[in-house]
Amino acid sequence: MTDQTTTPAAAPVVDPAHAQPFSNLEDYRAAIERTQQAAAAYYTGSGLVMDDADYDALVARIAATEAAHPQWQATDSPTQVVAGLGGDVEHRAPMLSLDNCFDEDSLRTWAARLDNTLGRPVTAYTVEPKLDGLAVAATYRAGRLVQLATRGNGRTGENVTGQARLLTGLPLRLSEPVDIEVRGEVYMTDADYDAGNELRLAHGGQPFANPRSGAAGSLRAQRAYDVPMSFCAYGGYLLSGPQPDTHSAAIASLGVLGFATTAATTAGLVVCGSVDEVVAAVTNLGTRRGELGFAIDGVVVKADLAADQAQAGESSRAPRWGTAFKFPPDTRMTELLDIVVQVGRTGVITPVAVLKPVQVGGVIVKSATLHNFDDLQRRDVRVGDTVFVRRAGEVIPEITGAHLEDRPAHAVPFTPPTACPRCGGDIDRSQKRWRCDRGRACGQAELLRYFTSRDCMDIEGLGPKILDMLVERSLVTDAADLYDLDAVTLASLDRLGDVSASSLVAAIAASKTRPLSRVFTALGIEMTGRSLSRRIARHFGTMDAILAAAAEDWVRVDGIGTGRATSIVVEIAEIRPLIDRLAERGVNMTEPGSPALSTSDRASELPLRRADGSPMTVVVTGSVPGLSRNESNEAVETLGGKSSGSVSRKTDLVVVGEGAGSKADEDAELGVTVMPAERFAELLAAHRNGDQAAVDAVISQTFAAAG
Ligand code: IVH
Repeated sequence: MTDQTTTPAAAPVVDPAHAQPFSNLEDYRAAIERTQQAAAAYYTGSGLVMDDADYDALVARIAATEAAHPQWQATDSPTQVVAGLGGDVEHRAPMLSLDNCFDEDSLRTWAARLDNTLGRPVTAYTVEPKLDGLAVAATYRAGRLVQLATRGNGRTGENVTGQARLLTGLPLRLSEPVDIEVRGEVYMTDADYDAGNELRLAHGGQPFANPRSGAAGSLRAQRAYDVPMSFCAYGGYLLSGPQPDTHSAAIASLGVLGFATTAATTAGLVVCGSVDEVVAAVTNLGTRRGELGFAIDGVVVKADLAADQAQAGESSRAPRWGTAFKFPPDTRMTELLDIVVQVGRTGVITPVAVLKPVQVGGVIVKSATLHNFDDLQRRDVRVGDTVFVRRAGEVIPEITGAHLEDRPAHAVPFTPPTACPRCGGDIDRSQKRWRCDRGRACGQAELLRYFTSRDCMDIEGLGPKILDMLVERSLVTDAADLYDLDAVTLASLDRLGDVSASSLVAAIAASKTRPLSRVFTALGIEMTGRSLSRRIARHFGTMDAILAAAAEDWVRVDGIGTGRATSIVVEIAEIRPLIDRLAERGVNMTEPGSPALSTSDRASELPLRRADGSPMTVVVTGSVPGLSRNESNEAVETLGGKSSGSVSRKTDLVVVGEGAGSKADEDAELGVTVMPAERFAELLAAHRNGDQAAVDAVISQTFAAAG
């Protein structure tokens, strides 16, 4: 629906190597002042004045100026001091910033410089997410939180201890009575952000411009309602006694004390032995950026050994032992040129923003969703406004709000449509998402074009003109009718001779063998594009499984949250007759190669089946090496089991991995069979490799041990 032009080779928004120096001292000083104002707004979360990319670009120009004119160097330049506002709390050790790199070359240059400083290669590196929030320091005495302070200007920060209770991941009491200072990021997960925006709107406020400024504002504000936020530790030191030898070990012990840590996020912490491994880990995290469940603005690379860090040291602004590899920003500001109303294939009517093109998250964005009319009116976004555009992962870019200070005097509020802009019919306003009363019938021609298109059923020769003729003559009213067409009927259409009529019939018939992923895509269900449809088809394996799935089954597909799950279930129920008619006409309804299919194919031979062939109920607690939670559950199903979230007397097997909670003890009490996660991983590998002897060995040992 949105008109984004992807430009994989797009130049970075910020390219410090090519930054233009200022030609006179006055402009240089003015630029420093602008960064200071922007930083103050940034750290308080109040009315942002500049987006991250413009800020970084301005700092790059300041740095280029200082290189060209060292005599102008100001002591309060953002290249010399940590930006931000100070407060009453003096930090025990300064809270520094990190230097940035924006591409592989500058990352390798940083690593080479570090080797040089040490006089030998760095022993090991860590790669972890750069959370997009604000830094805080938490002090604990005898395991109790006594103070939480913002980074402020790096030397002094604000006391925000009263807000600590709002932070998931920051325990008020630790598992051991230690004296420790822990440093980390306060941020909003996607779920925090959605819940926080709902709360704000319910209290008559404006939604947050982005998760970062939401976290910054909420940490410092005293409000009538509590906005949920999260904390993630990325460092810490015991106030006395010996420290851990490595950063990775320090993070692991923070996890044991009860903190959420970078290592425990979906992004994880990777220890790398070489720069090549670092580059691979950074690239990997970049590709997963949109699926993490929280915003990151880059990756932090650090020397892992405490000894390496101590030897490398730090400047007044940033350590030499670490660097931030910055991704293109996911939120930018740009001008809203127009608001147009689009009617989707299924009759959903949406306001869409037409934007002055802007690079967000590495692609040029020219349009973005304004969600729905209710939301648009509450956010009071107007044509001519400077708006915040956010692009997170695969999600369609969205307008999160307007920068009210920049509103032109003539800007008028938007007037929503009173009739369907496509067919002139009435609008159903009973839901948040308005819809043409005629529903899918309103968009039938468009739906058919989509169904036959190259990425869907790929029916060669069935172009828009022929489709329009077929619809006009009522020969086709939905996609299933296509499969009833014969050569005689087609030959009767203007412009279509006998030969092409029969080759068209053959092309239509050939499309019956397309895999389920294409059939599902072709149905044009709202919010399911090609790649999500592939995941859906792989996950369920058959259309029957899709039709039987409830909302709670849908959320187990990667990339589907509860909102999307509910709307998919509703739409599938609506188009069930069409699906049945397609199946009756012989359209394939299975996905070759789906792990779900192999489960049903050879059900009785699978390792996690009971003697009567029914699936064992399996609970996975803690993490299985190499698998996400979702993949662990998928693996249970691949092995023939049924995965469940809690242990009961019906549970046949509990797989216990690292980080397992109290469930393992309950299992022992209930007399349930337990399998270590490593054994489970072995079982899965053996099954995948077709090594039946190894599968049998794991199963017999596990259940024999249980007696
Ligand atoms: S280490 C000496 N690790 O990025 C500074 N910082 O641009 C050591 N940040 O002020 C910081 N995620 O607020 C570190 N995994 C991470 C981080 C991280 C986010 C923030 C932090 C810092 C800023 C520097």
